[in-house]
Amino acid sequence: MRFHASWIGLLAALPQALASSALYSTDSTSSSLNAESKHVETLYQFPNNGSWVDNLALRSDGSLLFTLLDAPEVWSVNTASGNASLVHSFPNATSCFGITEIDDDVFAVVVGNFSTKTYKPTAGSFSVQKLDFSRGGSKKEDRTLAHPAASKIAALPEAQALNGMTSFTRKSHLVLIADSPKGAVWKVNTKTGDYGVALNDTTMLPAEGQALPLGINGLRVVDDYLYYSSTTRMQFCRVKVDHEANAAGDYEVIASGFLPDNMDVASDGTAYIATDPQNSVVRITPKGQISLVAGGQLSTQIPGPTSCRLTPDGKTLYVGTSGGQVAPVLGTFKEPGKVVKITLA
Ligand SMILES: *[C@@H]1O[C@H](CO)[C@@H](O)[C@H](O)[C@H]1NC(C)=O
Ligand SMILES: *[C@@H]1O[C@H](CO)[C@@H](O)[C@H](O)[C@H]1NC(C)=O
Ligand SMILES: *[C@@H]1O[C@H](CO)[C@@H](O)[C@H](O)[C@H]1NC(C)=O
Ligand SMILES: *[C@@H]1O[C@H](CO)[C@@H](O)[C@H](O)[C@H]1NC(C)=O
Ligand SMILES: *[C@@H]1O[C@H](CO)[C@@H](O)[C@H](O)[C@H]1NC(C)=O
Repeated sequence: MRFHASWIGLLAALPQALASSALYSTDSTSSSLNAESKHVETLYQFPNNGSWVDNLALRSDGSLLFTLLDAPEVWSVNTASGNASLVHSFPNATSCFGITEIDDDVFAVVVGNFSTKTYKPTAGSFSVQKLDFSRGGSKKEDRTLAHPAASKIAALPEAQALNGMTSFTRKSHLVLIADSPKGAVWKVNTKTGDYGVALNDTTMLPAEGQALPLGINGLRVVDDYLYYSSTTRMQFCRVKVDHEANAAGDYEVIASGFLPDNMDVASDGTAYIATDPQNSVVRITPKGQISLVAGGQLSTQIPGPTSCRLTPDGKTLYVGTSGGQVAPVLGTFKEPGKVVKITLA
């Protein structure tokens, strides 16, 4: 409960004007609540409060995979019909975190123990697992329906709490994983299972004086840069990296002053960031200008958004939510977690 209280404290500390200030200037395409609600539709929602969608990954067949924090599960939702189904449940764990494609229709998933009641992770419980959909039947329908083959890539007993994950280059076979309390990025070779710390910096550490030790959270690689969110520092940052994912430039703060969870970054460097307790998705230009895409501090449109995933054409944004568990809207409103489709263009 200590951790929950700290979130509320953190929110109370935010300038009240933040949600409606010029900083959050509303898009021309969503200048009224009506216009906004038209381009946001729920694809799938769980029946129960407490369900918590954590991260998203697109499959090449257009379906969307998502991980749950309140169960050690990966689900799939058909983005045309909204039909959702359980894809895999991992034994010996409570939660799934980051998910990323590492080869054609092969995905890596961060699995570990975390309490959605106390927000406490179990240090030493984290591993990276593989879900291989590529060995299904030869017909497209069979592949789409097939359950993937699951296997372990690596256990990381030294990790404190693994969180978001992104693929580095296909050639390197590396995935990069945020360790939120440690303030570091691990790299894991998905072929050999070798791992080590690739990056660490003050911008990745949890903010001082916060009971919730949540620093670096989501990450994405675009061109030669690793983009990352640092939650309790309220910063969105990037660092240039070399071919082994070591720092090759300064750690830069692109934007700050909001609570970033997981995000996606388009090829031109435009970021879409879920702000979890602030109940919104914001767009950040490469120069750091912030605008509101959907939701809002006092809006019940997308309570507790945790993650964003852009389609390759950049026209659609999928958003996962926790239903507002971390900080109920207006202190009271919660709903079951859901996956939302936002049409951007
Ligand atoms: C969605 O799933 C239900 C139940 O499995 C099935 O009856 C229905 O045909 C599916 N809808 C589509 C559009 O695939
Ligand atoms: C993680 O959680 C699972 C399921 O509750 C439990 O069986 C396992 O012992 C836990 N592992 C650790 C390291 O606490
Ligand atoms: C469960 O996880 C713990 C900690 O990650 C590990 O030590 C143990 O071997 C695992 N047990 C099984 C049955 O996989
Ligand atoms: C980064 O890691 C090095 C080596 O473990 C350590 O000495 C340093 O204090 C770390 N820096 C930060 C900002 O955590
Ligand atoms: C979820 O919780 C809220 C209040 O916290 C309640 O109003 C709502 O009915 C619950 N929804 C479900 C599906 O249980």
